[in-house]
Amino acid sequence: MIKLTFYVLFCVVMTKSFTMLTTHLKCRGGIYPRSKIERFPVPDDKVDWSSEYKQYQPPDYTESSINGKPWADPNIGGSNFQPKWNDVDGKVSRVSHMGPYRITNGYPQNPIGRTGICGRGILGRWGPNHAADPVVTRWKRLESGKMVLDRDNKPILQFVAIKRGDTGEWALPGGMVDPGEKVTATAIREFQEEATNFLVMSDEEKEEWAQKFHEFFKEGEIVYKGYVDDRRNTDNAWMETVAYNFHDDNGSIVGALKLHAGDDAVGVRWVDATPYISLYASHDTILKEVLKQRIDSLR
Ligand code: BGC
Repeated sequence: MIKLTFYVLFCVVMTKSFTMLTTHLKCRGGIYPRSKIERFPVPDDKVDWSSEYKQYQPPDYTESSINGKPWADPNIGGSNFQPKWNDVDGKVSRVSHMGPYRITNGYPQNPIGRTGICGRGILGRWGPNHAADPVVTRWKRLESGKMVLDRDNKPILQFVAIKRGDTGEWALPGGMVDPGEKVTATAIREFQEEATNFLVMSDEEKEEWAQKFHEFFKEGEIVYKGYVDDRRNTDNAWMETVAYNFHDDNGSIVGALKLHAGDDAVGVRWVDATPYISLYASHDTILKEVLKQRIDSLR
């Protein structure tokens, strides 16, 4: 019995610290993006709200230029803003994929823990800000169609990556869910806008695109749903995403995809997926999950 209790306690502690270490690495410490504001230091063992941190005095920062933008909430406390926390609020979902979040002194509380900064930062919404990410994959092949194998004789998975215009990092071609938009639709739309020349296509070309890829983009599998370790997160506003894998096993469909960096992207290409890859926000964790699932599916 004592042994079992010890084991259960050990697992709880390990799971908690794993969550903290893997989820608040990028959105803790250092200067907040597009500002000169330094985050209040949060040691690993103080990320969790349940650990007492009496000295904690995070700076309060809400970028003023986003006020009034159609995609941004007003400030909390004003009579023009009566948000329905943890609910679908008109066309805006304030529901977190992480389950119900707490409201403290009128402000939604980051479900993972302290970030060293409060306010909304540069995010549009208080509480969860929803994004969607498409992971479009194929096996690496020679022009002849023959699969390329790595040193261990395993096939090499490739995915479509974009270079972000804001941070210059390689990333999945994802984006924010528009009010009322279905999350799968966001993933497909963002792929079209950022990784293909969809935005400059004529209506006829768009129609042709849709016919060619309709079946392929219908079959996305959810590979991740939840919190994202994004540099813009604060104690009261944070990013969440749903990532979908669209996989072309024999390479016949994506071969017809013409890649073209569009919208916020400044580069696009097929990249070999490896477990050591480093990508924007939590995109490397998402990609590693896809890689694992795809390699497992070969067994
Ligand atoms: C990006 C998504 C990303 C999300 C969370 C959005 O701005 O476009 O690709 O998953 O932020 O980091």
